[in-house]
Amino acid sequence: MEFRKLGNLEVSAIGLGTLRTFDVTDDADIAVRREIVDTCIGNAVNLIDTAAWYGNAEQVVGIVTEGQRDKFYLATKVRCEGKEAGEAQIARSFALLNTDYIDLFQVHNMIDWQTHLPTLEGLKAEGKVGMVGVTAMVPEAYPTIMGLMREGRVDAVQIPYNVINRGVAAELLPLAEELGTGVLVMEPLQKGRYVNDLREQPDLTPLAEYGITTWAQALLAWIVSDRRVSSAIPTTSRPERIGENAQAGSAANLPPELRDYIQAETERCL
Ligand SMILES: NC(=O)c1ccc[n+]([C@@H]2O[C@H](COP(=O)([O-])OP(=O)(O)OC[C@H]3O[C@@H](n4cnc5c(N)ncnc54)[C@H](OP(=O)(O)O)[C@@H]3O)[C@@H](O)[C@H]2O)c1
Repeated sequence: MEFRKLGNLEVSAIGLGTLRTFDVTDDADIAVRREIVDTCIGNAVNLIDTAAWYGNAEQVVGIVTEGQRDKFYLATKVRCEGKEAGEAQIARSFALLNTDYIDLFQVHNMIDWQTHLPTLEGLKAEGKVGMVGVTAMVPEAYPTIMGLMREGRVDAVQIPYNVINRGVAAELLPLAEELGTGVLVMEPLQKGRYVNDLREQPDLTPLAEYGITTWAQALLAWIVSDRRVSSAIPTTSRPERIGENAQAGSAANLPPELRDYIQAETERCL
């Protein structure tokens, strides 16, 4: 596993998302998430991203990381309107995650960011939050995000970036590199679509020498071979996929021609 700078942290190039997959309540389902998190430790995955918006996910993360909080950097998100509602939701995230320190607190999809950023900046000044970030899924938000990056108000941004959706490559990633802003990549497998909805099987032969044996690994390696990315955060409900996905963090140095190959092969097979 390769590790990358995210502020002062050294995060694994492959992290773990929790959207949908950690929104569970049954003991048996929670036990599987415990296995996922334990498998992350065994595979050097040290970053978990969650959000108040993800149903029961924060609570499940809090439960399954209990006693091993020091093995992970935790990122979560506030998503609501208004100062008081935001402060209450943020306080609830600390309680559900069962921690008094959150490594990265993000404003989810930039919703009411003008209100929440000062709250998060205050918590950072108090030492309860390590870094402040924002997330966004739509290009319309990028100019505002880049403005916040230039003003030094965000330590990290979370954006979509994958073999098909490369919109951030033009301006946002170069700016992040220039300023040293952390970059988390959401939806690296396009919700699994670019692996599971292919019409044809991609040819993995040219990637074998990099230890890539599955298309999910190829897609993840494509992302983290861009060194401006701090961590790509695929999610899964299956413990056996943690090792598979983590392996891409050891193939994070693909040459440009192989990245071009993965892109062309995805387009051919979709
Ligand atoms: N606005 C925002 O801030 C925002 C928006 C979207 C996402 N995010 C963050 O980014 C994370 C990742 O995005 P995402 O969860 O939407 O999508 P994703 O990680 O691109 O895809 C997840 C899907 O891919 C499947 N998958 C995972 N590994 C696989 C493998 N090796 N082979 C085949 N299928 C595989 C999973 O199914 P199985 O369960 O069957 O493995 C799951 O359905 C989220 O969990 C969340 O933390 C943030």
